[in-house]
Amino acid sequence: MSESYILVTGGTGYIGSHVASVLLAAGEKVLIVDNLLNSKENVATRLCELSKQSVPFLRGDLTQKSFVEEIFTQYKISTVMHFAAMKAVGESSRIPLEYYHNNLNSLLNLLQEMRVRDIRTFIFSSSATVYGDPIKLPITEQHPVGNCTNPYGRTKYYSEQILTDLYASEPDKWKICLLRYFNPVGAHPTKLLGEDPTGVPSNLLPATIYALAGKIPEIKIFGDDYPTPDGTGVRDYIHIMDLSEGHLSALKYCNANTGLHVFNLGTGNGYSVLDVINMVEKVSGKQVPKLVTSRRDGDIATCYADASLAKDKMGWEAKRGLEEMCRDAYEYSEYCSNTKTKI
Ligand code: NAD
Ligand code: WQD
Repeated sequence: MSESYILVTGGTGYIGSHVASVLLAAGEKVLIVDNLLNSKENVATRLCELSKQSVPFLRGDLTQKSFVEEIFTQYKISTVMHFAAMKAVGESSRIPLEYYHNNLNSLLNLLQEMRVRDIRTFIFSSSATVYGDPIKLPITEQHPVGNCTNPYGRTKYYSEQILTDLYASEPDKWKICLLRYFNPVGAHPTKLLGEDPTGVPSNLLPATIYALAGKIPEIKIFGDDYPTPDGTGVRDYIHIMDLSEGHLSALKYCNANTGLHVFNLGTGNGYSVLDVINMVEKVSGKQVPKLVTSRRDGDIATCYADASLAKDKMGWEAKRGLEEMCRDAYEYSEYCSNTKTKI
């Protein structure tokens, strides 16, 4: 086991917590940092339970330089996996300055501290949102980027540019991975971790489960007149455990190769809104109340990955299908409402 820590920023959040669980299961030492803006501290306790070891957790804001310095002073860190960010697309149009401040200053503080201490392995949570409305499907890593439709997406695009410039300044030193996630869904098989958005969820699968549970009157289907097989939007949903395992592969790949590496993390399969709703009905055995409404501003018709580069270079590919994604998400919500231990 390595003596130094992998710093997982945003580690009590949805993706960071699942990735932390996979890293811990692989024998890595993990340090969790989060300001709990969009998550709860007991996720860190769950990670200890799951991994049967103590997992250090520091609460703080990465936009504060002094806090970032403190992290690296207290702990010996080999690698940074940077998940911490604000991610609500609609909110980012209402408060763009907060998004640019939070997402870019966190990144800059971490990178400055890493350079000072000669820590050079960095894995970044990017997003398929950097591709904008795709001009060619499936989307390869070579697809043009930057044509984003909202400030959140632009924070990801600018972050990628910052990392590209940094890499170019010292190409022999840095090992950087930009991981462009498609649509992560589902939960940990133990149901100890899952997606727990604050307020009413805006993403399709959590919103569908809310509708199933009667927490919202119905799932609104945002348009059924897209040029897709059933008229509803098509996306590349990827199980959170597949996505998490992709990070372990990226870590190994980065450790073995200097460079700036860009990978799509998707399945390569597109499913429509109706496919997802129908699958939730199948795994739950219940009807989802639904209503077709007008299109949502900024939405695109179809988005799915060419996931072959990650397979060819890192030997990683997604294994879990839509049924497992919907079942794990549904069972997590049932587990939370039965045990009243919603995290
Ligand atoms: P999340 O909100 O569940 O987790 C992010 C965590 O970061 C939260 O726990 C939040 O409290 C923390 N955080 C935010 N700003 C911080 C700061 N300044 N200092 C310390 N902690 C801070 O989101 P997630 O779904 O787990 O997303 C993780 C990453 O993946 C984000 O960078 C997001 O943009 C990216 N991403 C997510 C998706 C998705 O659909 N969930 C898709 C593509 C990319
Ligand atoms: C999926 C499909 C909707 C909700 C967003 C961000 C993206 C990324 C992932 C971070 C679309 C339809 C949705 C609903 C619906 N996040 N839908 N009714 O828009 O692909 O991606 O999350 O990087 O940046 O934009 O995901 O789950 O919101 O929508 O009909 O209540 O479901 O129109 O076709 P999206 P989503």
